[in-house]
Amino acid sequence: MLKKQKEIIKADERLRSVAIIMDGNGRWAKKRLLPRTKGHEKGAAIIEDVLSVFKEIGVHYVTLYAFSTENWKRPKEEVDAIMKLAYKYVDKVYMDRLKGEKSLAVRFIGDKNGLPEKLREKCIEIENMEKDSEFVCNIALNYGGRAEITNAANELVKKGLPITEENLSREMYTKDTPDPDLIIRTGGDFRISNFLIWQGAYSEYMILDTLWPDFGREDIEKCVKDFYKRKRRFGGLDKEDESPK
Ligand code: FPP
Repeated sequence: MLKKQKEIIKADERLRSVAIIMDGNGRWAKKRLLPRTKGHEKGAAIIEDVLSVFKEIGVHYVTLYAFSTENWKRPKEEVDAIMKLAYKYVDKVYMDRLKGEKSLAVRFIGDKNGLPEKLREKCIEIENMEKDSEFVCNIALNYGGRAEITNAANELVKKGLPITEENLSREMYTKDTPDPDLIIRTGGDFRISNFLIWQGAYSEYMILDTLWPDFGREDIEKCVKDFYKRKRRFGGLDKEDESPK
């Protein structure tokens, strides 16, 4: 009997930009009777593999929600642990870049001013490195969608420019990234949590029960397949539903 060939999952220009709400680290740790910080550790450890799967599939931009403007309300120990993990990740990307690895460009979205100094400086150093990679990962740190829109409006006022959709989009942290075609949330909750509320206006959403530390190739392929089954109309109609004039 012929063995069924493995389906090749590829993204095209319809799926250039993906964003992810990485939720479920705490529950992953709790299930194993571990402290929440262990969940974040595992959550940070899978990022490299997740990015390489998206890159292999052909997605060009991945935006990760790592720390929101509301996450400062968590216990100091947990906040410190997440900041340390973020620093460790950013430093690794930095060192890889110095060694000549150019296949990944990392950028940051959010208010860097609120970050610990060492982390903030490392983020700025990375953003100032070469930007010629075809694969971009935006990391949302100290990010809030409402704050981003408010900040963009204030920038326009300062510059004396009219508040239009185009002008606002140009002032967003994500000005160099196409709006997400697909936003994935792990951990099973049906919420946006103040993430890309401007940019996600016409995104497709996928909510997975998988907890972030368990997220991998199978989940990614499932999301991509589901995305291609959907009809994106951006508020318009399908050709076949347009009535004859
Ligand atoms: C949400 O899970 C996750 C976070 C608030 C932190 C995400 C951080 C990382 C994956 C690691 C650090 C980042 C980088 C860039 C390396 P939760 O704690 O809300 O989980 P729960 O809903 O199960 O409690």
